[in-house]
Amino acid sequence: MVQVDATDNEHNTSRIWGGRFAAGPDAVLEAINASIDFDQRLWPQDIRGSIAHASMLARAGILNEEDLRAIIGGLEAIAQDLSKGEFAFSRALEDIHMNIEARLAQDIGEAAGRLHTARSRNDQVATDLRLWVRDRIDEQTALLTHLMGLLLKRAEEHVDTVMPGFTHLQTAMPVTFGHHLLAYLEMFSRDRARMRDARDRLNECPLGAAALAGTSFPIDRDYTAELLGFDAPMRNSLDAVSDRDFALEYISAASITGIHCSRLAEEMVLWSSSGFDFIRLSDHFTTGSSIMPQKKNPDAAELVRAKLGRIAGHFQGLMMVMKGLPLAYSKDMQEDKEAVFDAADSLELMLRAMAGMIGDMQANPDAMARAAAHGHSTATELADWLVRDLGLPFREAHHVTGSLVKMADEQQCQLADLTLADMQRIHPNIHAKVYDVLPVQEAIKARNSYGGTAPERVLEMIQWWKEELA
Ligand code: ARG
Repeated sequence: MVQVDATDNEHNTSRIWGGRFAAGPDAVLEAINASIDFDQRLWPQDIRGSIAHASMLARAGILNEEDLRAIIGGLEAIAQDLSKGEFAFSRALEDIHMNIEARLAQDIGEAAGRLHTARSRNDQVATDLRLWVRDRIDEQTALLTHLMGLLLKRAEEHVDTVMPGFTHLQTAMPVTFGHHLLAYLEMFSRDRARMRDARDRLNECPLGAAALAGTSFPIDRDYTAELLGFDAPMRNSLDAVSDRDFALEYISAASITGIHCSRLAEEMVLWSSSGFDFIRLSDHFTTGSSIMPQKKNPDAAELVRAKLGRIAGHFQGLMMVMKGLPLAYSKDMQEDKEAVFDAADSLELMLRAMAGMIGDMQANPDAMARAAAHGHSTATELADWLVRDLGLPFREAHHVTGSLVKMADEQQCQLADLTLADMQRIHPNIHAKVYDVLPVQEAIKARNSYGGTAPERVLEMIQWWKEELA
C-alpha cells in the first residue's frame, strides 16, 4: 500500500468542497473521515467509472470532444502511476475519488473540473464498489469452479475407498471417501450459485443518480450502464446511492462459502491427526513445531477454519452500520469498504488454501478401511437384514442388533467375529447368510438408493458433475 501523507494540510480551505469553509478540519476529523488509506483499492474501478461517465457526457453533448480527450488521457496517465505505485495519496483529499480528481486538475487543468458534471461522489462510490464486488465475484466463482474440479478429481480416485461415515462424530455407517468429497462439491456449487445470484442482482448502474435526486443535465444513463457492463441503470436515484444490500449479499454468500470451507478444513485437521490418520497433508500446507520434531501441523486448514470468523464478523458489522440509516447517502456507508475488502481477501485465501490442500493431500485407504470396520459400522446393515430375511419388524430388528453389538463389545470383537451359536442365543432364526451382510464393502454396495454411497451411484454422480463442469 502506498504511504499517505498525513501532514498534508495545504488543501484545508481549498479542498474540493471547501468553498463555504473558513477554517480547515480538525486533525481528528481528518483521521475519522479520510478513507484513502483503504479505499485507494478502488482506483481501477474509479478510473473506469470516470471514463465511462465522461464518454457519456460527451456523447450527450454536455462535454466537448477536446475536454473528453484531455480527461481520458489524464485518467489513463494517472492509472499508469497508480498501477506502478507512484501516486502520492493525500489524506487531506479524503478518498480515492477526490485524490484522483485533484491530480487530474493538476495534470490537465480546467477540463478536469467538468468531469464531475451530473455526478456526485455518492453515485460514484456506489458504482465503484459495485464494480469492485462484481470483479471479485467473478474471480471467486472461478476459484470455486477450480476447487470443485479438484474435489471431483479426488472423488473419482476414491470411488471405492471405504471410510467410516459419522453422525455426532460417532461411527455411523461406512461410506466412500469419494462420496464424502462429493458432498463438499455439492455445497461449493450452491455457494457458486449464490455468488452468481448476488452478481445478477448487483449488476445495475447507480451512475447518474448524482447526489440523490438525479440531475437536470440531459444524461444518457443507459449508455453509461452499457459502457460499464451493467445490465441497466438503477431505476430509483435514492435507492441507487443509499443501499449497500449488494455488499451485504456478497458478504453473506462469502460467509456461507466460508462455513463450508471451515467444515472441510476441520475435517482435514481431524483426518490428518494421528488418531485418524486418514490423510496426509502435503509439506506445502503444513508447518513444523519449534520444539516437537515429530509434528506436522495443519496450519493452513486451521486458518481456513478460523478466517470464517472475520467474514461472518464483517457481515454482522455491516448489517449494524446499515441498520436504521435514513435515506439517502450517509457517511456511515463509508464503513462498507473495509468489511467488503477484508471479507473478499479472506475468502480468496481460504479458497486458494483449500484448493491447494485438496489437490495435494494423500489419502490413507488402509487406515480408513480399518476405522470403517470398527465401531460396528455395519450394525444398521444387520438390522436391515433381520427385517429383509427374517421378516422381523424394524423396531425388533433394531433391538436384536443392539443386543448383538453389546455381546460383541463384551467379547471385545466386531459383529462379524461373533459365532453363529452366540448370535442364535440372541435370536434363534439367525443363520449363516448373516455373515454376507457384515463386511463394510457389502454395506457400501447395498446403499444404492439415488444419492447414496454405493460406488455405482457415486460414479453416476461423478459422470453428472463431469458434464456439469465441462
Ligand atoms: N468516501 C466516501 C464513501 O466512501 C465517498 C462518498 C462521499 N460522499 C459524501 N457526500 N461525502 O462513502
